[in-house]
Amino acid sequence: MQVQKDFSLKKYNTFGIAAIARYFSTFFNTEELESIIENNKKITSKMILGGGSNILFTKDYDGLVLKNEICGMKVIKDDENFVYIKAGGGVKWHNLVMFCVDQNFGGLENLSLIPGNVGASPMQNIGAYGVEIKDVFYQLEAFHLKEKEMQLFSADDCSFGYRESIFKNKYKNEFAILNVTYRLRKKPVFNISYGALLQELEKMNITDLTVKAVSDAVIRIRSSKLPDPALIGSAGSFFKNPVITSHQLYEIHRLHENDGKDVPFYKSGEEHFKIPAGWLIEKCGWKGYRKGDAGCYEKQALVLVNYGRANGKEIYDLSEEIKMSVREKFGIDLEREVNIL
Ligand code: FAD
Ligand code: EPU
Repeated sequence: MQVQKDFSLKKYNTFGIAAIARYFSTFFNTEELESIIENNKKITSKMILGGGSNILFTKDYDGLVLKNEICGMKVIKDDENFVYIKAGGGVKWHNLVMFCVDQNFGGLENLSLIPGNVGASPMQNIGAYGVEIKDVFYQLEAFHLKEKEMQLFSADDCSFGYRESIFKNKYKNEFAILNVTYRLRKKPVFNISYGALLQELEKMNITDLTVKAVSDAVIRIRSSKLPDPALIGSAGSFFKNPVITSHQLYEIHRLHENDGKDVPFYKSGEEHFKIPAGWLIEKCGWKGYRKGDAGCYEKQALVLVNYGRANGKEIYDLSEEIKMSVREKFGIDLEREVNIL
């Protein structure tokens, strides 16, 4: 594969940031990846790129960007209750979900319409509407970029957490995830506990739950409040929802008892609660804010957006201002979910 020099990444990240990669190449299989690495030993910084939907480039990338284009998905085995589907890291996530929905395999329907590719799905253990990929994950194959060795990872090996995995922390930038195998149910078991999902299914008058109905409901909710990457630049939620103590939650309730609306929160373990960062950000007055082309989305305050020509530094600076005001008002430190480069 030809390595290109000074390559614009504008079309390769959903924020639409016009960063330049010093070197860029695609790979369609493991052999190609190996040979690119072998022929470019002198380039020390390397990163794997998927759909670019969870990255903010704050500057040009002074290294080699390797875009994973490994495609293909197939059922590799099945038993009485489960089918095992192996997909290439370059497969579009939503295409995999639609493949499963069409065949009535249960497990991925709540994760419909998440942008990005299969190879990145374990990176932050993608999640939505009460389901995370750890719930259906079986195993993955990854290639160690320095040792040049293949390694098989089970779910336990991946240390999945809320928007976390071993690949986002300990093994950051060490492996290229080549393919992922998911274990799906032949007889679907539905998870419709998420409030907004339940309400949408009621609105749609769904009485008989199917994989397709749940997927359709999720697509409707997402389309109504999240920006379409083809129209407005973003990387989805910019921050994680913070986990706070019962004392912090009590203080927030006290501060807002005259608002007329309840403070939203979810239980997270014995003594802790998750509070939506979008609510905290909205309460600090940022929702719909715009400075130049960088903004806080008018329908979902947790999503920072690029209306056209913002650069990564402008988006990052806005995120810093938001972080500071949430810390000042609530004493809570927001943690970024998006990968900053
Ligand atoms: P990229 O952005 O290309 O990469 C993300 C990180 O993973 C980078 O560090 C990259 O180096 C690394 N990486 C990518 N591929 C590989 C690989 N094959 N091997 C090793 N490392 C790799 N996320 C959710 O969890 N839930 C949501 O509901 C959700 N909604 C979103 C809505 C919108 C509108 C947008 C724009 C994003 C949303 N996201 C959501 C975030 C994003 O879609 C996911 O994190 C997705 O999995 C990123 O995939 P990607 O292929 O675009 O990864
Ligand atoms: N809220 C507000 N104002 C806002 C946005 C949200 O008050 O502007 C409050 C509301 O009370 C709302 C609650 O937050 O009911 C939850 O909002 P939403 O259902 O939109 O979910 P979220 O917590 O903001 C999380 C994920 C999303 C995921 C949805 C659905 C994180 C960081 N984000 O968002 O994931 O799609 O739940 O499960 O956990 C992503 O990771 O990129 C992403 C989009």
